[in-house]
Amino acid sequence: MGGILSIDRRQFIETAKKSAGGKEVIAVVKNNAYNYGLEFAVKAFLEAGIHSFATTSLDEAKSIRTYAPDALIFMMNPVYDLEAVYKYNLHITLPSLEYYYKYCGELSGVNVHFEFAGLFNRSGFEDASTMIEVLEHQKSLADDVQMNVKGIWTHFGYADELDMDEYEIERGMWLDLLNELSEAGYIFEIVHSQNSASFARDGLFDGHTHLRLGISLYGSRPYALLPEEDYVQSLELKAKIVQIRNIRAGQKCGYGGSYAPGFNSKIAIVDIGYGDGVLRKRASFDCLINGERYSVKSLMMSHMIVEIDDKVTIQDEVILYNNEMRIDEFTALGVGANSEQLGALNYQSLKKVILNDTGIRQ
Ligand SMILES: Cc1ncc(COP(=O)(O)O)c(C=O)c1O
Repeated sequence: MGGILSIDRRQFIETAKKSAGGKEVIAVVKNNAYNYGLEFAVKAFLEAGIHSFATTSLDEAKSIRTYAPDALIFMMNPVYDLEAVYKYNLHITLPSLEYYYKYCGELSGVNVHFEFAGLFNRSGFEDASTMIEVLEHQKSLADDVQMNVKGIWTHFGYADELDMDEYEIERGMWLDLLNELSEAGYIFEIVHSQNSASFARDGLFDGHTHLRLGISLYGSRPYALLPEEDYVQSLELKAKIVQIRNIRAGQKCGYGGSYAPGFNSKIAIVDIGYGDGVLRKRASFDCLINGERYSVKSLMMSHMIVEIDDKVTIQDEVILYNNEMRIDEFTALGVGANSEQLGALNYQSLKKVILNDTGIRQ
């Protein structure tokens, strides 16, 4: 047993609704829905009024289809298994001219979204002229073999970096591209570009039909200047104390004597460690016991040493993440991106508890 991860489902839905701000959202559910659990998250997002989903994994897309038979499912990675695209009725990215010419013959009737590379440049077309080349080539084909040009999208690589100027540049490049295409008469039914940080900074851009949100839907602030009450975290990570020990001045404990206080102290040995997904950097900050912060002194694979006082008893729970000890607080302290802390959590060793609408454990 290595800690308990609980998610308050009612709060998860409320947070998603608030973070969507009444706009149409494509929920990014890649990597097992930021490790909240794909099935849990998709079903909860549907209840929050979100009916579009994006992932990078074809296996995840297939699973989403079983949870959400009518949803728009968008594949952000290039897809090469086009049979699966037909079978599961997926929307896919059109990532490059090379991809287009290679798979053109297999794309008839497929819902595609042109991808703009922008400054992020992980994938995508570099300019409007190459997109127009594709659009014109399509027009030259018989109607029944044309693909279904549905959308256009990009991803900003700098929206989360408030101290860099590149976001303004990439945003300008993208809006100019849309302008150029629209002036040339090319209009798209679905337009999406903004992640959580971009939406928080700018609101929904004109002419955009959808946001494409990840981390804010899951209750973490994309950057620390935003108010916590707008991003309530539904997740809590806690663990039990397995033993309390008195340590005399001069005594050491832990691997290599990692805890050597030099004074008489009291420690709790806590049943969670890096094997359960607690990042080493996270363990250089405090945990919460009975609403008070205590210092973590050593992190092992399955245990942590916490320096405590006489108020702590063996029955107390040790909290690593909750709404007072938010994931995004530690992001701001340099522990790692919100998604990095979430992604590290080990579902094999943590006990997962979903709290339902009424707060009763299922
Ligand atoms: C292509 C793409 N769009 C949207 C998102 C969502 O970003 P965020 O979690 O910052 O909202 C991601 C996340 O990595 C992404 O890769």
